[in-house]
Amino acid sequence: MSNPFETLRNQFDLYLDTQTNKLPESRLKDAMRYSLLAGGKRVRPMLLFAALDAYGLPAEEGFPMAAAIEMIHTYSLIHDDMPEMDNDDLRRGRATCHRVYGDDIALLAGDGLQAFAFEQLKDVSDPKKAIDLCVLLARMAGPAGMCYGQDLDLDADGASSLEDIERIETYKTGCLIALPLCSAAILAGHPEDVDKWQQIGHQIGIQFQIQDDLLEKTSNAAIMGKSLSDERNEKATALTFFGLEEGKAKVLEYEKSILTKLDEFDLNDDLLRSLIEQLTHRTH
Ligand code: IPE
Ligand code: IPE
Ligand code: MG
Ligand code: MG
Repeated sequence: MSNPFETLRNQFDLYLDTQTNKLPESRLKDAMRYSLLAGGKRVRPMLLFAALDAYGLPAEEGFPMAAAIEMIHTYSLIHDDMPEMDNDDLRRGRATCHRVYGDDIALLAGDGLQAFAFEQLKDVSDPKKAIDLCVLLARMAGPAGMCYGQDLDLDADGASSLEDIERIETYKTGCLIALPLCSAAILAGHPEDVDKWQQIGHQIGIQFQIQDDLLEKTSNAAIMGKSLSDERNEKATALTFFGLEEGKAKVLEYEKSILTKLDEFDLNDDLLRSLIEQLTHRTH
């Protein structure tokens, strides 16, 4: 991701390093840091920082919540890669957590990251906002959010329509993508905007997932930094229902619709728009 996101990314990575370095020495700590600091794209934190910028707030105000979201996201990836789910060997350019630390420690690394995510919210300065963020984090990550989507996804070979796929994507990917946008509204003191951000976030999530499905077919594991296992796992994806060209057109259609929805806010959202453009054209 290019500047100014590059600078933000470096600052934020340092923050994650500092937060997790405080933990007692253990295999668990090593496994958590191995996956968290492996260098993901940090899309969700960047969405939070860009939305905060639209409200005129500095990125640093979002660091605790962004850390919480990235920890939840990383835990979801550690568990997603395990043999009981997608059974993958490569993630973020490295061997998957369970391949290095074993299934037992990988399970715990996910558990540890999930709990430690909530602890991050102690650093949100306004206690009322911290409570609202805590509830939102639990809702978007939990059994009516990402976890629910993962359950639907495990059964995706039973998906019989594009609507089924969009439903899976809305939950498994859209919830954690909408979360940073909704969080920015809460941090900015505009909870009345949360619903609209949720709709935009779900659209970005579906767009992101279609892009991911396209890249799964057109890119390779080395560039993506992860195993490409949909075919081996016989996963139905959006591309089960339409071809590559239609997929590419859909990604552009979603971009247009997302940008139109952003017009409904009267915000200075250049940074967010440039991030959406980068996501639309991402290559990994
Ligand atoms: C991977 O998310 C899982 C999906 C929802 C497709 P990312 O593509 O954001 O993964 P990282 O954080 O960059 O590793
Ligand atoms: C991962 O979805 C979504 C979550 C971990 C919540 P996928 O299984 O489709 O994504 P990749 O290909 O492993 O990143
Ligand atoms: Mg999966
Ligand atoms: Mg997977």
